[in-house]
Amino acid sequence: MRTQVAIVGGGPAGLMLGRLLELRGIESVILEARDRAYVQHRVRAGVLEQATVELMDEVGLGARMHAQGLVHRGVELRFEGEGHRIDFDALTGGRAITIYGQQEVVKDLIEARRAPLLFEVSDVRVDPVAPAVSFVHEGAAHELRCDLIAGCDGFHGVCRPAIAHALTVYEREYPFGWLGILAECAPVSEELIYARHERGFALASMRSPSVTRMYLQCAPDEPVWTDAAIWDELDRRFGLRVNRGRVLEKSVTPMRSFVAEPMQFERLYLAGDAAHIVPPTGAKGLNTAMADVYLLAHAIEAFYGGDGSGLDAYSSRALERVWRVQHFSWWMTSMLHRIGDAFQLRLQLAQLRETVGSRALSTALAENYVGLPFRAA
Ligand code: APR
Ligand code: PHB
Repeated sequence: MRTQVAIVGGGPAGLMLGRLLELRGIESVILEARDRAYVQHRVRAGVLEQATVELMDEVGLGARMHAQGLVHRGVELRFEGEGHRIDFDALTGGRAITIYGQQEVVKDLIEARRAPLLFEVSDVRVDPVAPAVSFVHEGAAHELRCDLIAGCDGFHGVCRPAIAHALTVYEREYPFGWLGILAECAPVSEELIYARHERGFALASMRSPSVTRMYLQCAPDEPVWTDAAIWDELDRRFGLRVNRGRVLEKSVTPMRSFVAEPMQFERLYLAGDAAHIVPPTGAKGLNTAMADVYLLAHAIEAFYGGDGSGLDAYSSRALERVWRVQHFSWWMTSMLHRIGDAFQLRLQLAQLRETVGSRALSTALAENYVGLPFRAA
């Protein structure tokens, strides 16, 4: 087998990269370890930055997102029993976010894919020097020769470990996780609420006008709570009576910050969760993956036009944005979670009051939340 770009991983990063290449007449093969139903139904993030929305439009896949997505022009920060709105519209000159589940983005991209997308591949091995990817599909072993490999196989994939000798890792683990639920009821508010409470952080989000998504800060190894205990704790931390409904899904996610540098070795380029992880406070994971592949697709297009300088600069350009987003996610996380000693908690309140009280700080939050523009070079 032979292709131009071998893409390992059919999550949002790999699928969007495949789409961007297809539109440029560049061949690719996407190799995905899971089956189609699994990747389409896995509940993940749900906030699309303005630039991600624009990218979905650019690749011709915005229709369902605009029909079903919910446009939000602000978020609420809640502490000491009071809510404070951060007005994106006023603070960012009309920018906004759109609530549209990651798995919906994945469905739209899979639906549109015409070029090879192989599900349930196993024994994937990458050779960044050849370059080539070997794998097993439907019981047969294959070798895929290519010009470039895109490592889009997420945090637990094989691409980053394959080049570990060439990487430096920067990492922070947090002493807590998020207990997340998806429930059949109307959201408690029209916009997202990020709540800081002495008992821990809570977040109210949604997937549609009738499906709520909520999170509670918990111990990283927390045994999953009963539904009743979750609802009571949500009421307590928001200081509100939240709507209740049938719980469709619940799970605990650990929280970490992680960056591997550089995002390249020989002819293997990493993108998305394969290269970096942010804690979910601020909803940057999916959007950062999209920013990476946008940059990478343009660099690959230039490479086939005879100019390899974009590929050479890919890692350093991507990392500039990655670190900006790392800082924002760490800042939101440390401002809102129960963390540190009593002194630290007093500092948090001072910081929160300043953030909602100062136009400069509110603007910084709003600009980072709606997201930085994607760079093509
Ligand atoms: N071979 C092929 N595919 C693999 C392999 C492998 N060895 N290992 C993992 N995969 C697949 C996973 O099954 C998954 O579908 O790679 C895909 C990686 O997708 P994601 O983990 O979703 O990562 P990414 O595409 O970078 O998306 C960014 O941002 O919102 C966050 O974590 C959230 O998934 C989201 C991410
Ligand atoms: C979500 O809806 O899943 C969500 C929203 C905001 C976040 C994280 C997750 O910061």
